[in-house]
Amino acid sequence: MATCAADRLREEVRERYAAAARSVSESSGGCCGNNSCCDGDFGESLYTAEQRGDLPEAAALASLGCGNPVAVAGLREGETVLDLGSGGGIDVILSARRVGPTGIAYGLDMTDEMLALAQRNAAEAGVRNAIFLKGVIEDVPLPAESVDVVISNCVVNLSTDKATVLAELSRVLRPGGRVGISDIVAEDHLSAEDRAERGSYVGCIAGALSRSEYEAGLEAAGFGDVSVEFTNEVADGMHSAIVRAVKPR
Ligand SMILES: C[S@@+](CC[C@H](N)C(=O)[O-])C[C@H]1O[C@@H](n2cnc3c(N)ncnc32)[C@H](O)[C@@H]1O
Repeated sequence: MATCAADRLREEVRERYAAAARSVSESSGGCCGNNSCCDGDFGESLYTAEQRGDLPEAAALASLGCGNPVAVAGLREGETVLDLGSGGGIDVILSARRVGPTGIAYGLDMTDEMLALAQRNAAEAGVRNAIFLKGVIEDVPLPAESVDVVISNCVVNLSTDKATVLAELSRVLRPGGRVGISDIVAEDHLSAEDRAERGSYVGCIAGALSRSEYEAGLEAAGFGDVSVEFTNEVADGMHSAIVRAVKPR
């Protein structure tokens, strides 16, 4: 994608999610109803009652994801986790609890309003091992081989440079580190135009990779044990999916 078009799209994404964060902060109401986030039946309903019960109300309401990556990541005590595009912080808070006081959960987001909301939610949840970083997922502000698990919830589809995002995952993960991402993924037969007909870019549909593009991208970034599993259809031929991969030792 040409740089100007990519910059414009990223700014549109930032504005959309800043408005979503403000909507949660100001009204304590959800944001999908006014079309401020991903198109589809997303958000807090994707979490178990036990997970939701442990969260501040604003963190649950701010959930804009299309899956439950914490449930698939198999997090262990003491691990370091990175959530790409952490939004209101729901998956960072849940991860911080899973890895316990000897572990760390980082949340990375480019939108100031989301970072402020996430900080408030983590403080209200009483979580001390959550660290929120400002930055873009195409240039992760963490050293190489510093993370055990990368999670993400409905964000990679919003990136205008997905190959660079996947290379960043590989760089920051330790050998043996793993990826557990929820994302929107297209069936292979859908062209870019077909995807754009089914929903907007900022609504998490038009920018989605196909299953084979995701698999090939992860393999090109050096990952093994790659899998992309469709979980439910959100538009004709477009699915919420669980994406897994492992960085070889
Ligand atoms: C659909 S929301 C998902 C938020 C969160 N993962 C959740 O499940 O509620 C997308 C989030 O990703 C952030 N985001 C989108 N593109 C990004 C990028 N290139 N770099 C960093 N953050 C990004 C947005 O600011 C927003 O908070």
